[in-house]
Amino acid sequence: MYRTHTCGELRIQDVNKHVILCGWIQRSRDLGGMTFIDLRDRYGITQLVFNMETNAGLCREARKMGREFVIQAEGSVAERSNKNPKMPTGDIEIMVEKLVVLNESLTPPFTIETETDGGDELRMKYRYLDLRREPLRNNLWLRHRMAFEARHYFNARQFIEIETPVLIKSTPEGARDYVVPSRINPGQFYALPQSPQTFKQLLMVAGYDRYVQIVKCFRDEDLRADRQPEFTQIDCEMSFVGQDDILTMFEGMIKHLFKTIKGIELKDSFLRLSYEEAMEQYGNDKPDIRFEMKIAELTAIARGKGFGVVDSAPYTGGICVKGCSSYSRKQLDELTEFVKRPQIGAKGLLYVKYETDQSIKSSVDKFYATDDLKKWVDCFNAQPGDLILVMAGEKLPTLRALSELRLEMGNRLNIRSKEVFKPLWVIDFPLLEWDDEANRFFAMHHPFTSPKQEDISLLDADPGKVRANAYDCVINGVEVGGGSVRIHNENLQKKMFRVLGFSDEEAERQFGFLMHAFRYGAPPHGGIAFGFDRLVSLFAGEDSIRDVIAFPKNNAARDVMIDTPSEISDDQMKELSIRIERMKD
Ligand code: AMO
Repeated sequence: MYRTHTCGELRIQDVNKHVILCGWIQRSRDLGGMTFIDLRDRYGITQLVFNMETNAGLCREARKMGREFVIQAEGSVAERSNKNPKMPTGDIEIMVEKLVVLNESLTPPFTIETETDGGDELRMKYRYLDLRREPLRNNLWLRHRMAFEARHYFNARQFIEIETPVLIKSTPEGARDYVVPSRINPGQFYALPQSPQTFKQLLMVAGYDRYVQIVKCFRDEDLRADRQPEFTQIDCEMSFVGQDDILTMFEGMIKHLFKTIKGIELKDSFLRLSYEEAMEQYGNDKPDIRFEMKIAELTAIARGKGFGVVDSAPYTGGICVKGCSSYSRKQLDELTEFVKRPQIGAKGLLYVKYETDQSIKSSVDKFYATDDLKKWVDCFNAQPGDLILVMAGEKLPTLRALSELRLEMGNRLNIRSKEVFKPLWVIDFPLLEWDDEANRFFAMHHPFTSPKQEDISLLDADPGKVRANAYDCVINGVEVGGGSVRIHNENLQKKMFRVLGFSDEEAERQFGFLMHAFRYGAPPHGGIAFGFDRLVSLFAGEDSIRDVIAFPKNNAARDVMIDTPSEISDDQMKELSIRIERMKD
């Protein structure tokens, strides 16, 4: 037997037991006549003790071993005189009698500690060493438990997990496809699924009325902290349900995860905000509702006082920041610089201070009398001591800039706690989005999303106004899931493709398989997919989904550990009937 226990297992009640442990040397310390080694495995750390007086040979041997050596230590469990309450095994230590080096190790390129000295790239290159660190071990364990609990929830509700293929035809989810050449069909390519969308719909046609799959998806898009080229979804679909049934079922899954994993009971039903409300109140379709600070529109009351910036702007709006009327000139200048950054793009920032003595000071005193500004104050229901920050411009960009400012103020005021979770549904998304460059509409969710029954007549007259039976699940400003009720009628699906600018032939070529399936008894259906990496990182309190993925890619979509993407051999290229021609710019 290699080991009798793990390094995280032994406690005070195990004292005097004879044990064998295996693991990696985290660190060792020589204190005169004693040598201490912290032995680590994925379960924890146990202290080993070598005594110069009782076994000098073994002690000398122990002193020769370096960090990350893999060893087997045999001995008896003893109560520690110097207990460490921070460690679960901190009451005991092992008096080692026998030691075997199972493998030596080079000195690792960074310290394998919670706070490591290794930079991002280095840790990615030696990910197998990074994964030995406790924070990553905890995250992968959390991920496993969340997947397990999600499956448990669905299994108890008659969902069946069905695998769908990875070599498929393009699914339009809004990103570029990763493609794979087919050797047997020269010149032809598979696409890797951006999601199993069409397959789960086909499973509904096939009668599997509750489907779930924890599944890899692939999207060639610009990467950010919450985006990876390959990521995991909890993908779900149901038949014979309407939007309410779907939201209730999947809200239940999120509640189940919070309860079983974090011990948090989310009693209330999730808030449901329409897309329009989310945009008007938060300037964002994934609002962080851990704090209020809602946007209020001031367009009408601010106009007509001779202030050109406001008078010429289609929209004026602002936020009210509690207790910040004492903000200094410097702090306000900083905020102005913040909103003027190119990513945010505001032209400037106005402020109104409702001072604690109830006087009003502002950056626009020249144009507005105190009575005028009092109306602004009333608009926010502001209290003495509050600061009102205002921007004017085109409506959507101004709302977006206000959203960024709101989040920034939330950060500055420390009111975006990672321990607080505020989920909500954003519903009634527009069906379509106009793209100026392509000069056509795109599906805001995907082309299989059904329009609201009452808006179908607008599809011809004013497609931009049509709302969809589509919803996102948002937690703390993160879009953790999105889905919709689907079109299950061939004619409506055809019409949708037409609105999206597909000719009937093109739609038939790309999606004929789905439309044909709709001819054979397609049930009403709908579903959702959760971004599993995002959910786990939210539960883990991490800012990047990379920290909850065992082997992630970097921001250039590279795996620096295995050094890919990489070239393939000429023979492979020939087999695939592919020749690379460098394109001239
Ligand atoms: P959607 O495209 O909204 O919907 O994706 C669902 C969820 O997946 C997560 N997500 C990502 N996570 C990490 N990296 C990425 N590159 C990435 N892209 C998306 C998000 C998102 O909410 N087929 C539909 C679902 C449906 O209609 O049922 C779909 O894929 O958390």
